[in-house]
Amino acid sequence: MLGYTLALGIEPLRTAISDHYRDYYALDVPASRIAVTTGSSAAFLLSFLAAFDAGDKVAILRPGYPCYRNILGALGIEAVDVPVGPETRYQPTLAALEAAGGAALDGLLIASPANPTGSMLSAAELEAILAYCREHSIRYISDEIYHGITYGGRAPSALDFDTDTVVINSFSKYFSMTGWRLGWTVLPDDLLRPFERLAQNLFISAPTLAQHAAVAAFDCHAELQGNVARYTANRELLLRRLPEIGFDKLAPADGAFYIYADVRALTNDAGRFCREMLQATGIAATPGDDFDPVDGHGHVRFSFAGATAEMDEACARLAHWLG
Ligand SMILES: Cc1ncc(COP(=O)(O)O)c(C=O)c1O
Repeated sequence: MLGYTLALGIEPLRTAISDHYRDYYALDVPASRIAVTTGSSAAFLLSFLAAFDAGDKVAILRPGYPCYRNILGALGIEAVDVPVGPETRYQPTLAALEAAGGAALDGLLIASPANPTGSMLSAAELEAILAYCREHSIRYISDEIYHGITYGGRAPSALDFDTDTVVINSFSKYFSMTGWRLGWTVLPDDLLRPFERLAQNLFISAPTLAQHAAVAAFDCHAELQGNVARYTANRELLLRRLPEIGFDKLAPADGAFYIYADVRALTNDAGRFCREMLQATGIAATPGDDFDPVDGHGHVRFSFAGATAEMDEACARLAHWLG
């Protein structure tokens, strides 16, 4: 039972993921288009290798998840920054894509909800971006790893508007299987075989035990919704308390479990601020530099994935430290 599996994953899991698209999104995504991967991390590596060549240009958001830039860089693919900020709720406009190169881009990668900001594209924004990409032959890659953890209705999927796009998801976030190292990708026809051949050669298969466990995870929605209820309570608490404490410029936190705070009123060196905060209060937060090499030094990312009592205690300690 614990041998290798097929490169694209065990059939029961690919079928369970296909069923998930039917049940959660009301979308018809055949199991044959689904590849199971070693976390979404392997899915990025495999999709980039399958879709792009060295020297290609792929646009990513700044601030954004740091590994995109690093994986692209390791493959000799140019990461092109699309700077985003509070004026556009930390998501790109078509004008921003145009300014980043427009038709000269080979790819565009967006996470919605995003890390570190939690911000989400509306259905209309996502549809317009997908149409723009189609018109200019830009390969769209949708990181949907935080789907299921949203605070105002379900996040739109790129598959709602375009069945020919690359969608990457994971068992690490909503399904809380972070260390099991399992994710999946929905692939358009032209990338299926290249992706499969690369997966076979680079990984042989995703972890077998984790694949069997993930089939069972689709029967655990009651427990998983309990986590989402906890994140919802934590988010409400922090959005109420953080501004009182002095963190009053916060990204939208539409989804995921992060609050990205503009802390320029308190510091211009987020790394030092976070080190001092850790020493003084025992609270660990991530300096914005990790997500944004240009403007991150004035930002801090708080994660609220923990217990509500911990969030409460953290607010009390922060208020005391900054008070
Ligand atoms: C936006 C985003 N994408 C991808 C990942 C990678 O997750 P995994 O490889 O566990 O699926 C993370 C992890 O934090 C993330 O925040």
